[in-house]
Amino acid sequence: MEWDVLIIGAGAAGLFCAGTARMQGLRVLVIDHARAPGEKIRISGGGRCNFTNLATARDRFLSENPRFCASALAGFSPLDFVALVDRAGIAWHEKTLGQLFCDGRATQITDMLVDRMAGAELWLDTTLSGLARDGAGFLAQTTRGLVRAGRVVVASGGKSIPKMGATGLAYDLARQFGLKIIETRPGLVPLTFAEQDLARTKPLAGVSVAASVTHGKTRFDDALLFTHRGLSGPAILQISSFWHPGDEIHVDLAPGLDLAAELRDRRGQGGRIAVATVLSAHLPARLAEAIAEELQLTGARLADQNNATLNRIAERVHRWRLRPVGSEGYRTAEVTLGGIDTRGLDAKTMQARGQPGLYFIGEAVDATGWLGGYNFQWAWASGHAAGLSL
Ligand code: FDA
Repeated sequence: MEWDVLIIGAGAAGLFCAGTARMQGLRVLVIDHARAPGEKIRISGGGRCNFTNLATARDRFLSENPRFCASALAGFSPLDFVALVDRAGIAWHEKTLGQLFCDGRATQITDMLVDRMAGAELWLDTTLSGLARDGAGFLAQTTRGLVRAGRVVVASGGKSIPKMGATGLAYDLARQFGLKIIETRPGLVPLTFAEQDLARTKPLAGVSVAASVTHGKTRFDDALLFTHRGLSGPAILQISSFWHPGDEIHVDLAPGLDLAAELRDRRGQGGRIAVATVLSAHLPARLAEAIAEELQLTGARLADQNNATLNRIAERVHRWRLRPVGSEGYRTAEVTLGGIDTRGLDAKTMQARGQPGLYFIGEAVDATGWLGGYNFQWAWASGHAAGLSL
């Protein structure tokens, strides 16, 4: 059978694009090598899918070409997606700062997307082994046989979490059709420490603290979590997308506090109290004790400390300087930075320049959102832009 559109990948972007294409009455085939559609949607947002962010704007995306995503984002807004969610009767809530989550299971979103593309064919457990031009259209070789389609949309995502079926297929296809790839790297990923740093931080695994994490001019205020291999938590995941191997990051473990002034005040009030006890008013007790120990102040009383020592304590809390050695990599990264060079794509339609009928959408493209629902909004918006122009 001949199809108007073949969509490769039944993830967020592919499913959304299929729905938009169906609304125009096109014959749509979606293929995926996974056993179920929308696997990443299922596990997203801790199982509740942070499906959009009301603050979506192009400055929430990393790309070599930062203006590229503006057009697609303007064509399909977070409120457009909320309208679909409401129409499907899916209850949701705003967590923090515009992040919208399902009240119930994330699979409600996948079900909604599958309903929306009614009439499209979905072939799961199906692998693409080749794609070639065939007259004005394309001929695809799949494990279910040959597929002829007028247009092809590549929505096979990035490299993050290979265990869930992520592959570099989109990049291979892009290269085959003459597009360039911006070097990829894991994003929104925990950072890891060298052995000598781990000796101090490993015992803190599981401790979480509200922090301010800075890399150059970029700063995120959110929770930071100590892990057995380094640091995680939303503030670290955010900064990881800006970090490169060899870079230093700075952590303020008590943002908004003037700890040096507070320590001087407390000392002026008598100061028989232990340094770690004062710190534990602002930090988790285990972290407060670890910092006191690192500064060789275990059991030390505040009254016995001079101003230089108080400043040293404050510096350690407010300006903890770190040089991670690496990240947890694609194994746990929520997204893939880099990808298909947007200069080879039309920003309004996502069609490859010089390759009529070939489109790239979603995470495969070099447009990567911050943590907080931006990446799904990009999947919907880029899928919609392509779907409308098919
Ligand atoms: P996606 O990866 O969703 O889909 C690609 C599809 O292509 C998959 O179904 C895959 O099986 C298929 N495929 C790949 N290679 C193939 C091949 N060779 N042959 C056939 N099929 C192939 N974002 C957000 O905004 N809010 C959130 O709450 C979260 N939470 C979150 C949690 C976790 C743990 C992760 C890993 C990621 C998130 N994200 C997120 C990011 C979000 O999941 C991601 O940006 C989108 O799923 C990207 O959508 P795509 O459709 O582009 O790729």
